[in-house]
Amino acid sequence: PHEIKIAPSVLACDFAHIADEIKKVEAAGADWIHLDVMDGHFVPNITFGPPVVSSLRKITTLPFDVHLMLTDPLMYAKAFALAGADSITFHIESVGDPHAAIEYIRSLGVRVGISIKPHTPAEALLPYLKELDLVLVMTVEPGFGGQRFMSDMLPKIEMLRSGITRQRLITNLQVDGGIDEHTAYLVKKSGADVLVAGSAIFSREDYKTAIVSLKNA
Ligand code: DX5
Ligand code: ZN
Repeated sequence: PHEIKIAPSVLACDFAHIADEIKKVEAAGADWIHLDVMDGHFVPNITFGPPVVSSLRKITTLPFDVHLMLTDPLMYAKAFALAGADSITFHIESVGDPHAAIEYIRSLGVRVGISIKPHTPAEALLPYLKELDLVLVMTVEPGFGGQRFMSDMLPKIEMLRSGITRQRLITNLQVDGGIDEHTAYLVKKSGADVLVAGSAIFSREDYKTAIVSLKNA
């Protein structure tokens, strides 16, 4: 029923060749580029910051879907917006006042998303659905690519899909972590419409086949 979008996560690609890898997934039919930003504090891993995003902005026209895994997302959101983010997603666990955070990020001229970690219930997001462009259900503990999909997240996806439908919203329902051809089928059935995938794309020989199989799973 929903048009499925695939957002390759560059976390899984060779960081010495990020630009080439983005061009390759763009040619292979990627819809968005998912950029995982980690501060070594909110999650036990460190990736990249605004300068890398602004350099990459010059080599593709695909939307940049920036996933902030930061203890203080509001301190850095503006720098990512200026660097060329099209959407900025922060974790609900990292802000005191989600309404204010949404308003602030929207004032930067980007689409706004909120993400929940596996231990955070879907109910935490329900009050904000109508203010958001995107909700992101983490299907692994954030921090690293290549982890195993947590199938007990499926009811959360279903609950958020019902909320979106009930309120007649067009909010994207995104999933991130352990998405492959098998789990893509499950999350789509539960109502997800944007699939983030790292390993299931970048560890394959043929990116086009990988993206098409996720879309059609
Ligand atoms: C994990 C990141 C994910 C990660 C997904 O914290 O948010 O985007 O790259 O990687 P895979 O698809 O390999 O699980
Ligand atoms: Zn992510």
